[in-house]
Amino acid sequence: MVRVAVTGGAGFIGSHIAVHLARLGYRVVAVDSLERATGFERLEEAGVPLVRADLRHDDLPDADVVVHAAAYIDVAESWERPYEYMWNNAAVTAKVAKRAAERGAHLIYISSAAVYGEPEYLPIDERHPTKPKSPYGLSKLVGEQIAEMLTKKLTVARLFNVYGPGQSGPYSGVITKFIQRAKQGKPPVIFGDGEQTRDFIHVEDVARFVAVTVEKGATGVYNVGTGIAVSIRKLADIVMKIFKIEGTVRYAPPRPGDIKHSVAEISRAFSLGWKPQIALEDGLRKLIDI
Ligand SMILES: NC(=O)c1ccc[n+]([C@@H]2O[C@H](COP(=O)([O-])OP(=O)(O)OC[C@H]3O[C@@H](n4cnc5c(N)ncnc54)[C@H](O)[C@@H]3O)[C@@H](O)[C@H]2O)c1
Repeated sequence: MVRVAVTGGAGFIGSHIAVHLARLGYRVVAVDSLERATGFERLEEAGVPLVRADLRHDDLPDADVVVHAAAYIDVAESWERPYEYMWNNAAVTAKVAKRAAERGAHLIYISSAAVYGEPEYLPIDERHPTKPKSPYGLSKLVGEQIAEMLTKKLTVARLFNVYGPGQSGPYSGVITKFIQRAKQGKPPVIFGDGEQTRDFIHVEDVARFVAVTVEKGATGVYNVGTGIAVSIRKLADIVMKIFKIEGTVRYAPPRPGDIKHSVAEISRAFSLGWKPQIALEDGLRKLIDI
């Protein structure tokens, strides 16, 4: 049976990947320091074992496939703590990639659209220049580069804006923030004019993408998004409609460093036989009960 280690496996995205792969019959172990884990219960419910390890200090369990999702993910924090971001995201990836290569394992590195920086054209394909705009984005890009240097059995999954059940805490994205306010009956607060666009992908579609690369042993760099640009204003409208929120959206000054538009070109991922299955409004409706 194929053994899979998912680092960051008790986090938001890692726990969905770990549970999805376990349900497909892989022998999965989640590896996590639990420092920022929000998906611990999901693992427990699905009976996925967890190894508590801080990859800055501890080794990886033996595996045939390593999905490396562990990282610090907060852009603002990365400006305050650049050293910790380079260590935990870039240097740890060097360690994980070297161990994977020594064991002949397939490494699936969970990267980010943050590696692209300000788009020079849209939609963003995988050949788009990589000029990250934050220490976080740079730490993810260096992770890609060192992994490429150390192992050839490598899949790089550049995730766009991921949302879904279990996304919570101070590092969560715009969807979680809108929904948290909606649950209190309050309309969303939009930073900037709301015309900025993002590509929102459901976490279960991300897990399905990872499963396809494991199954096919597919290597290379892939954008993982929907290919659909949604404005923040439109997102706010959908959330208000679903939650039946009265009142008007509040606007706050734009956040410095935010990019204006982002949308993925996803034909490479399509060529693997994967496509996103959860439309944004359906994905948001599913979040109401959580
Ligand atoms: N959330 C998004 O929209 C998004 C978008 C693009 C890419 N990503 C990438 O997806 C991955 C997962 O992000 P997430 O949203 O699930 O974040 P998360 O914070 O929920 O999960 C990260 C997990 O990694 C663990 N971790 C951190 N450092 C560790 C270490 N040294 N050793 C062991 N475990 C450690 C944390 O405890 C946490 O459980 C990250 O690599 C991130 O860069 C996320």
